[in-house]
Amino acid sequence: MAIQSRFITLEGGEGVGKSTLMSSLVKWLESKDLKVLSTREPGGTPIADAVRRVFKSPPVGEEFMPETEALLVSAARAQHVGKVIKPALQAGKWVICDRFTDSTRVYQGLYGGVALNNLEWLIQFSTGGLAPDLTFLLDCDVALTAGRIGGRGVASNDDDAVRFDQAGDVVLEKLRQGFRKVAGFYPSRFFILDASLPQEKVFQDACTELERRWQI
Ligand code: TMP
Repeated sequence: MAIQSRFITLEGGEGVGKSTLMSSLVKWLESKDLKVLSTREPGGTPIADAVRRVFKSPPVGEEFMPETEALLVSAARAQHVGKVIKPALQAGKWVICDRFTDSTRVYQGLYGGVALNNLEWLIQFSTGGLAPDLTFLLDCDVALTAGRIGGRGVASNDDDAVRFDQAGDVVLEKLRQGFRKVAGFYPSRFFILDASLPQEKVFQDACTELERRWQI
């Protein structure tokens, strides 16, 4: 039987628990003898990680144009898809990616104001048409996510200037609504998880959906 690879993405606003779900899912899939690659965007290769550093910590004194952001994340994505994601899928691995094209649709498009039809062209160009098989959207009340972001601490990861992580509730709510809207554009690809539930329950709900879709 041919090895069936799958491409799964995790999406959502800030502080919704993507990283925790990612590590639980990787362990669970590996326990089923599947080969799994976990990765993230922007980033995932040395060149794409260099773009991520500029993206997340731009030089002080100048703000990004949303168009520039869209081009930067797309440049990183072209590298990531071509050098990491496609080869892994071709090797029969399951790929789980923390953020992908839907983040561009929401952050640069619905939030940033870049026209979605321009973004669709960029997305097609940078991915060569590769789309996820399944996208988990972690959807959560912003009052809860704002609390989680507050507790996380800005210096706890490699990005000192975490721009959207410092966003207020209004921005978080716009992002949340943006993701829900994009999920509505692709109903068969998206599965919405209630990320206000305990992490173990969110994980179980994700596993149930994976079992339902692919009998793993
Ligand atoms: P994170 O990996 O800590 O979630 O940070 C990634 C940040 O980059 C997050 O604020 C969302 C943002 N982003 C975009 O604005 N557009 C994109 O296409 C991607 C992948 C991420």
